[in-house]
Amino acid sequence: MSKVLDKHLIFRHRDIENIHNIDVYIKDNGYEALKNALNEMKTVDVTNQVKAAGLRGRGGAGFPAGVKWSFIPKDIFPKYVVVNADESEPGTFKDREIMEKNPHLLLEGIALCAYAVGASASYIYGRGEFLSTFRPLQQAIDDAYKHGFLGQNILGSGFSLDIRLHLGAGAYICGEETALLNSLEGLMGQPRNRPPFPAVAGLYAKPTVINNVETLSGVPYIILNGADAYRKYGTDRSPGTKIFSLSGRVNKPGNYELPLGTPLRYLIEECGGGVIDGKRVKGILPSGAASSIMGGDKLDTHLDYESMVEAGSMLGSGSVIVLDETINCVWAAKKNIDFFRHESCGKCSPCREGTHWLKSVYSKIVDGRGTKQDVELLATIIGQMEGNCFCPLGEFVVPGVRTSLGLYMDEYLEMVAGNEEAPQ
Ligand SMILES: Cc1cc2nc3c(=O)[nH]c(=O)nc-3n(C[C@H](O)[C@H](O)[C@H](O)COP(=O)(O)O)c2cc1C
Repeated sequence: MSKVLDKHLIFRHRDIENIHNIDVYIKDNGYEALKNALNEMKTVDVTNQVKAAGLRGRGGAGFPAGVKWSFIPKDIFPKYVVVNADESEPGTFKDREIMEKNPHLLLEGIALCAYAVGASASYIYGRGEFLSTFRPLQQAIDDAYKHGFLGQNILGSGFSLDIRLHLGAGAYICGEETALLNSLEGLMGQPRNRPPFPAVAGLYAKPTVINNVETLSGVPYIILNGADAYRKYGTDRSPGTKIFSLSGRVNKPGNYELPLGTPLRYLIEECGGGVIDGKRVKGILPSGAASSIMGGDKLDTHLDYESMVEAGSMLGSGSVIVLDETINCVWAAKKNIDFFRHESCGKCSPCREGTHWLKSVYSKIVDGRGTKQDVELLATIIGQMEGNCFCPLGEFVVPGVRTSLGLYMDEYLEMVAGNEEAPQ
């Protein structure tokens, strides 16, 4: 497997200037995959090609996209394709770059997905704060309509599709797919019970595919070049390329598209130019705030879904945050908790109360008023949250705190040293 990409599959704007412009996109084989699909492929062939390519969801869970599409019932109408462009995980900023710099790739991916599942309407749900992203995206949608790639009877095929852009108000929970659907329907952005799953009863209780921006942007390459070409990149079980948003204490933070399976060390040292001032890596949050923290000794782990789990963490949405020896890891853990406290939607008490208490205990410790009992209390609180939260947001809180306590206990103890215990 080659570590360096000969060309970008998703980040084509890095190879071709002004690809956000529809004429430039068309010149670079843009909308050819859609034309091929509409002219030569049955809907099921599109799904099968995506299945064969092994494209996995890039929003975090890594669920195979083609398999998800095949769950959509054939005989219920209307059906919807919803694009998760809420991108709120701390440290993730990849979808934004796709939408700003190569928006037609996403639109073509949506059209292919809609054709495959028989949907004639699609909604892109984005973060309201990203106005600089969504203005050009709306322009791209308008241009695609003008060129006949969206709208009624696309390219004379009989297939029709409308895409609407919907901006949320910037809530992390609205990235959770069922909360997103509620928000899209004008309800409070809180998660729904599952089952029923969105594939069966999603938007307006109709069959709905929900995919991440990067996932759908991977589809045109697969349809144009075939599953085998896609599988030349990545590993057997994690095929293709993935965009990693690298941030934290590195010299060159940014988005990097790499074949899945590339060593973490390559991302940090070669792409990111290493750690600032040549310091030692003390920890890595490979999937933003929701990650189990990996110690600095895990740099040789490969960035694919399986290897990351084997190393005790997860690939998630690929937001790699690097902590070095200048970082107080208790402070870093508190920052994550502040985020989760702010973003907890309040629907279930383990998450609502758990994040509240974690924030209060972490604040006490970081302010220098904590005791050893408080450190023990952190473990008790996450023990009460684990497995009891209504949705994954609350569950995301647990691994970060647990691994932080495991890896950096000496720092916790140092911060509470000398403080008197409260009487029992
Ligand atoms: C709290 C929470 C936040 C999430 N935020 C996002 C997000 O910002 N973008 C995203 O694509 N998926 C997000 N997800 C995952 C989605 O629920 C869903 O799995 C994903 O959109 C499915 O698309 P994919 O299969 O293409 O990854 C989030 C999940 C949770 C639990």
